[in-house]
Amino acid sequence: MVTTVSDDYAAIAPWYDRFLEPIDRPLRAKALELCPAVPGQSVLDVGCGTGSHLAEYVDRGAVGTGLDRSPAMLETARRRLAGRASLVLGDATSLPFDSDGFDMVVASLFLHELTPEVRSASLGEMVRVVRPTGTIVVIDYRNGPMRWRGHAWRALSTGIERIAGSDHYRQYRAYLSSGGLPPALPAGLEVSVEKPVSGGNLAIWLLTRTDERTTGKD
Ligand SMILES: C[S@@+](CC[C@H](N)C(=O)[O-])C[C@H]1O[C@@H](n2cnc3c(N)ncnc32)[C@H](O)[C@@H]1O
Repeated sequence: MVTTVSDDYAAIAPWYDRFLEPIDRPLRAKALELCPAVPGQSVLDVGCGTGSHLAEYVDRGAVGTGLDRSPAMLETARRRLAGRASLVLGDATSLPFDSDGFDMVVASLFLHELTPEVRSASLGEMVRVVRPTGTIVVIDYRNGPMRWRGHAWRALSTGIERIAGSDHYRQYRAYLSSGGLPPALPAGLEVSVEKPVSGGNLAIWLLTRTDERTTGKD
């Protein structure tokens, strides 16, 4: 059952892609370079938004599933993917999927906007649903040294996050000041690749499971 919450993205959804695609497209291209799509692999995009990232994998033959709690963002994803992926209205803290079911789990520009509790629960769920030999791909803001270009991107990002609303902005600031992704990683996950992008404002992380949970599926 999906608990009804107000849709924070209702007003943003219609213009989200037009405004953010110039920033997001190069990030996705870099993520695909680091972790290429494989035809037939199962990919779950958590906080899939308008489905632009998921579409990159589906276009290359992956079997795509997207989950988001915003009906407005999912509506755009449905138009984009038009029956080519399974799109689910739901909450990342309680993924309605079996354990060990996905070859790849993607979370793009999603984790920074969550409270620490929701971030921790969402990461825990991502670990649960990815296969033991699978990969979790995270694209998000990075806390670390930046080039001058990174500082310029950080100023722009901060403006965008501020426009997104006071709660959103508060979580963004708290996420960065707590160290970003690495300290938020739950037990059972390790960083196999960290690739700073946008001058260090953001990074792409490839995360793998460390535990020995086996299911006989691998
Ligand atoms: C900044 S957007 C990023 C969308 C997309 N991943 C991208 O890269 O363009 C964050 C998305 O996360 C979704 N979201 C936030 N909290 C969520 C939660 N607890 N469960 C599922 N989706 C959530 C929002 O509705 C929104 O669509």
